[in-house]
Amino acid sequence: MAKNIDWKNLPFGYLKTDYNVRCYNRNGQWGELEISSSEYIDIHMAATALHYGQEAFEGLKAFMGKDGKVRIFRWEENAKRMINSAKGIMMAEIAMDIFKKACFKAIELNKEYIPPYGSGASLYIRPMLVGSGPQVGVRPATEYLFLVFVTPVGPYFKEGFKPVTMLLTREFDRAAPLGTGNIKVGGNYAASLRAQEKAHEHGCANAIFLDAKEKKYIDECGPANFFAIKNNTYITPESKSILPSITNMCLFDLAKSEGMKVERRNIPVEELSTFEEAGACGTAAVISPIGKIVDSMMGQTYVYSKDGNPGPISTKLYEKLLGIQTGDIPDTFGWTEIVEI
Ligand code: PLP
Ligand code: COI
Repeated sequence: MAKNIDWKNLPFGYLKTDYNVRCYNRNGQWGELEISSSEYIDIHMAATALHYGQEAFEGLKAFMGKDGKVRIFRWEENAKRMINSAKGIMMAEIAMDIFKKACFKAIELNKEYIPPYGSGASLYIRPMLVGSGPQVGVRPATEYLFLVFVTPVGPYFKEGFKPVTMLLTREFDRAAPLGTGNIKVGGNYAASLRAQEKAHEHGCANAIFLDAKEKKYIDECGPANFFAIKNNTYITPESKSILPSITNMCLFDLAKSEGMKVERRNIPVEELSTFEEAGACGTAAVISPIGKIVDSMMGQTYVYSKDGNPGPISTKLYEKLLGIQTGDIPDTFGWTEIVEI
């Protein structure tokens, strides 16, 4: 471990690493992977990413195991989702093998930045796809840049695996049902910033969005999906405007394998008062247990943790997920792949 990094206290932030990996698509053809040690990209001032939001990204993680092996988690799902994002905003689709090679290469080249086993940190992998070619009329670019950088990260919410308070926002939507909410494009995140800021003003970690059409159902939770537990059932929203979370898919399967019932369906706001546990889940958030949801406009607060601790089912799911990711628990699902470093 050559790097002098305080692994245990890493925030979820950008820390410079040594290399990133790039590949260009020009006139419909992907070129060769290039390794760069620059943190900057030289981009045309009329690039469609800058003007018309032709930009998508992914987020996945690699973990150092007790056995000294590095495991990358479900990269195929992230690659497929990036292909969907590209289709959604008419960008060149990344090839699965280029996505894989670039992620594995970026990990290998920056192996000294993989946080040690037991530190609670992991290596976050950030693939991005941007329209780099110029257009002034609103049209797709003819050149695209695919780039993968990595950075070691700690927990997304500073509380880590401790309950957070969320603000139910009725003032803002992040995405429309037939819009881009179900793909991972940068514009969705710009659209979520005001709600997040409002949540912070209320002392909350982030905002929970309602469905944009009827304002009746829970959509998602900042950069994470929402889930709740009651009567031994794992419940998560069905919605056209939320990102299909890979972590949520895992928890759904883990809950099933634990003998729980699972439901993907509309969750009306009134049902919030009936849940035993609630949480936000995502690659960055892992599981962030929700201790409280504040609906300030309606003068309502829903409480899921009275003692400041996560609930027993969220805890079990969290431990299982992390156990598989680090290799402590056998991966019977085939979610992890060893990266040779
Ligand atoms: N929802 C949004 C808006 C996100 O940005 C993310 C993060 O990727 C998620 C949900 C969780 O998805 P995943 O579990 O695939 O990281
Ligand atoms: C992730 O969980 O990987 C995300 O992409 C969330 C990010 C917006 C911080």
